[in-house]
Amino acid sequence: MKAEASLEFLPFARPSITALERAAVLDVLDSGWLTTGPRTKEFEARFAETVGSRHALAFNSATAALHLALEGLGVGPGDEVIVPTWTFAASAEVVVYRDAVPVLVDVDAATLNATPETIEEAITPRTKAVVAVHFGGRPMAIGELVDRLDRRGIPVVEDTAHAFPSRIAELGGRFAGTIGRAGAFSFYATKTITTGEGGMLVTDDDALADRARLMGLHGISRHAWNRYAAGGSWSYEIEDAGFKYNMTDLAAALGLAQLSRAEELLAARRELAAGYRRRFLGSGFDDLLDLPADAPDESHAWHLYVVRLRLERLRIDRAAVMDGLQARGIGASVHFIPLHLHPYYRSRPETTPRALPIASREFERVISLPIWPGMADVDLDRVVGALGELLTPARR
Ligand SMILES: Cc1ncc(COP(=O)(O)O)c(C=O)c1O
Repeated sequence: MKAEASLEFLPFARPSITALERAAVLDVLDSGWLTTGPRTKEFEARFAETVGSRHALAFNSATAALHLALEGLGVGPGDEVIVPTWTFAASAEVVVYRDAVPVLVDVDAATLNATPETIEEAITPRTKAVVAVHFGGRPMAIGELVDRLDRRGIPVVEDTAHAFPSRIAELGGRFAGTIGRAGAFSFYATKTITTGEGGMLVTDDDALADRARLMGLHGISRHAWNRYAAGGSWSYEIEDAGFKYNMTDLAAALGLAQLSRAEELLAARRELAAGYRRRFLGSGFDDLLDLPADAPDESHAWHLYVVRLRLERLRIDRAAVMDGLQARGIGASVHFIPLHLHPYYRSRPETTPRALPIASREFERVISLPIWPGMADVDLDRVVGALGELLTPARR
């Protein structure tokens, strides 16, 4: 019975690194140019081409990209920015960086994404922008949201940290992140493609791209990254007080290799999600869980695989299931602890002008299971088997 405890730990997430990534990074190490340079420029160009966006700007995180997007849109003191409560710290803290107020909204119970209706209801005369999150890699109803908000002159910044490469079927297969005024992608170590740490801001708006490029590197004049290269100039001008958000060529080399494998990595995630579904449906205990809502195949990036406990049918709560998985050597997580339940947002009631009952309720029962390219069938068996052991029905 305790045999499982001695099994190798199954991590919650693990990057897929091959000879391609290793060679790309070694090339940069040997090149003599480690920071922002030719690899970063190439990564930006390839990413823009892949998602079909006019500009793609590489930074050291999605948080940086979100911050620069809001800065470029002129978000400032006295403004409100609508953000779903079902997200990571970054989506809302960037609003606070701008001395503006993040106004948290509830999510749809089926998808855990905010809906266009809920967002529109939260608009006030002070609303300056919306941060739209594609939770877990499943796109929210972004086409409808952008249509509604265009009419009111409110820009949408897509937090696409989870959703590369999600293509939106209803919008002719356009990429999530390219529908709003700007999109911010994350290449954090657990994400669908990774640079260790990194992010990309995409936009078709020339002025926004120029401003983000300037502010992303100290507010100093264009091509500042190039000043130590042959042909680079020693001269520069500080045009504003910017930030140090640039991506290194080491990271970009990793990103280029990962980008070239994006379809392969997506196919692997899709297969794992289908594998979970098949196993749960055949498990005999699928009535004790809610599985992730179906999405058109091409639109889900499967960054996360989130199941929900049907607590009313169980004798065990989420904390005990998490402990049980941990005891069996299985890494699992919770996405997310809604923002409005955290001390900072609780101490700022203006961020939560309305009750957020769905997020509060769903939080109690979500569990993110391991999903990463390289997981084997036996790993899926192990996770589903462990849940089968742990989920004891209240009555049968
Ligand atoms: C929804 C969401 N937005 C933004 C971020 C921030 O990404 P990064 O770590 O690249 O700054 C994350 C990170 O996990 C996230 O989950």
